[in-house]
Amino acid sequence: MLAVNWDTIRLFLHVLAATIWVGGQVTLAALVPALRAAGSDVPKAAANAYNRIAWPAFAVLLLTGMWNIAAEHDKEHGAYQTTLIVKVVIVAASGLSAYLHAQAKSRGAMAALGALTGVTALAATFVGIMLAG
Ligand code: HEM
Repeated sequence: MLAVNWDTIRLFLHVLAATIWVGGQVTLAALVPALRAAGSDVPKAAANAYNRIAWPAFAVLLLTGMWNIAAEHDKEHGAYQTTLIVKVVIVAASGLSAYLHAQAKSRGAMAALGALTGVTALAATFVGIMLAG
């Protein structure tokens, strides 16, 4: 059996938080038609319940992300560094669009910002895998 070390804990927490932030958004989006059929205010209630774990997960991503940077600092030059900068910009867009999505008043703005936060969350995952190599 392989040994468990701090790298194991660090990546486990980062990936677990990513499954909640990314997987949760994809799952909630898939559930919206059924939630809407259950009642006009049900999607909002479900989104509020998801937000109670989504934002703590995003905070864990930021904290373990900085831990990742510290742990992998010997790699941070050239293409790796460029990829990391791109990732941080994508993550910022994911968080900002999620916040604006929750504040949106019109269905059009809500749908557009919802799509943007989903796409940037998936992109952050993809670029994360690129960094992990
Ligand atoms: C939406 C937010 C984020 C998502 C979905 C995400 C996702 C991921 C994933 C899936 C990995 C690959 C893990 C592996 O295969 O071992 C990863 C690695 C990494 N992430 Fe993130 N991440 C996010 C935010 C951040 C942030 C904010 C930072 C930096 C401040 C960051 C820095 C890193 C680094 C440096 C790695 C490489 C770790 C290593 O190779 O040891 N991530 N990320």
